[in-house]
Amino acid sequence: MEQRPMGVIGAMKIEVDAILSALEEAQEKVHGNMVFTSGRLSGVPVVVAQCSPGKVNAALCTQALIDFYAPRLVLNIGVAGGIGENVHIGDVVIATACVEYDFDTSALDQCSAGQMSVPGQEGLLDQFPCDEAAANILAAAGEGLYGHAHRGVVATGDKFVADPQVGEWLQKEFGALACEMEGGAIAHACLMNNVPCAVLRTISDNAHDSETVDFLTFAASSAQKAQQLLGEVLPRL
Ligand code: ADE
Repeated sequence: MEQRPMGVIGAMKIEVDAILSALEEAQEKVHGNMVFTSGRLSGVPVVVAQCSPGKVNAALCTQALIDFYAPRLVLNIGVAGGIGENVHIGDVVIATACVEYDFDTSALDQCSAGQMSVPGQEGLLDQFPCDEAAANILAAAGEGLYGHAHRGVVATGDKFVADPQVGEWLQKEFGALACEMEGGAIAHACLMNNVPCAVLRTISDNAHDSETVDFLTFAASSAQKAQQLLGEVLPRL
C-alpha cells in the first residue's frame, strides 16, 4: 500500500519555492484558496502547501492538509528570527515545542501569556508539543550537514519581531530560541487532530547581531538549506 504522504507547510513563496522545484510528479490542487502540491521528494510522497503568514492562515492550512491528504506527519519549514546570543543567521532551529506567545487572557483570569484551554485537552496548555522522534532525526541531519542544530522552544505570534526587547522577553518568559508566525498554530491544529508535527526553521534575522540584515537574501538561502536538509532526511522520517 502507498505510504501516507508527508505534509510540508511554508508561509511565503520564498519558503516553499526550493522544495516545489525539487518535487517530482507535481500536481496542484486548491483548497480554501490555498495551493497544495502533491508529488515526490527523494522518492517519498509529499504534499507541499503555502499558507501565507500568520497563525490563522497556518491553522486553516493545517486543517485542510489533514482533511484532504491525511499526512503521517506535518512539517513546518521556513525562516525565523533568532533569539539570544547563541542563535545566529543561517543556524538551524528544530522545535521541541511551540508557544503562541501573543495569546494572552491574563487581564481576565489567572492565565499567563501563552496559556490556553484547547478542545480535547485536559487543563490549560502552556506549549504545543512537537514529535520527539522527528525532531531527533531532523537535528541529527542538521548536525551532519551543517555541524550544528539548535533544539528548543519556538515562539509564534502574529507579528514580525524586530525589537530586541521583545526578543529578550520571549527568551525570559518562554525560553524561546526563535520567533516566527506559524509554527505554534500548526502544532496546535496537529494536536487537535492527533497528527504528529515538526517545525524546522533557519534563522534569517537576529536582533542581537550587529551586521545589517537583508531579510529577503537570508530568507532565500535559509529556505534552500531547509530544502537540502529535507531531501536528505525525508526517507527516514
Ligand atoms: N520570520 C523570520 N524572521 C522573523 C521575525 N523576526 N519575527 C517573526 N517572524 C519571522
